[in-house]
Amino acid sequence: MNETTVTLENVSKTFKSGSDNLKVLRDVNLMASSGDSLAVVGASGCGKSTLLNLIGGLDKADSGVITACGFEVSKLNEKQLTSYRTGGVGFIFQFHYLLKDFTALENVMLPLLMRGSRQQKARDASMSLLDKVQVSGRSGHYPSQLSGGERQRVALARALINNPTLILADEPTGNLDENHKKLVADLLFSLTADAGKTLVVVTHARDLADRAGRTLHLSEGQLIPS
Ligand SMILES: Nc1ncnc2c1ncn2[C@@H]1O[C@H](COP(=O)(O)OP(=O)(O)OP(=O)(O)O)[C@@H](O)[C@H]1O
Ligand SMILES: [Mg+2]
Repeated sequence: MNETTVTLENVSKTFKSGSDNLKVLRDVNLMASSGDSLAVVGASGCGKSTLLNLIGGLDKADSGVITACGFEVSKLNEKQLTSYRTGGVGFIFQFHYLLKDFTALENVMLPLLMRGSRQQKARDASMSLLDKVQVSGRSGHYPSQLSGGERQRVALARALINNPTLILADEPTGNLDENHKKLVADLLFSLTADAGKTLVVVTHARDLADRAGRTLHLSEGQLIPS
């Protein structure tokens, strides 16, 4: 039996704005293990990014329990949260949060340096991953000097550089042409199939969702197998 990487038990999340309550997630349950790939699909605004943000420890659920990589995510203190975010989980954001004052290479190196890696080692590992996602030729560029698709691939490299157990990918192929879409999808799915990682990928792209082991449809706050 493969090891469980992530579980959600009765997780709910409501956004309040003024007198309005927007109930985005209603008692969501989910379980995924090492080697699993899950696609989460659903209409724009249904709560997919919210779900990933909760799992990734970027936002807090109102109720329910999220366990990931051996941590109970909502109970982590700042130090543990940093360790979870820079080690256990690799987050590929829908909108890329590359640090604007750092080059592509430095953005990828940072998570390694934060975990105590030596400069040269971090540089070599980062260049090798940038090469894998075909942006090593742009390693000295700042985010503002990169195309949207290049930024997306640098962000992917940054998310994977610490060899995370759990990969959360929010529209990872959104800005890419067909060849690079395939490159990124091949990389993500090979990490689950060959390296036993767990992948939760949010996407509107049918062909990407079709490659996942399971597809879940998020609708009216609930995850429904499809
Ligand atoms: N911080 C917030 N405060 C208030 N409402 C929010 C907040 N974040 C998200 N929402 C609302 O919650 C709903 C779910 O948002 P979310 O970003 O999770 O959607 P999504 O499924 O990822 O959509 P898309 O496919 O367009 O990326 C949306 O209606 C959004 O407006
Ligand atoms: Mg989203």
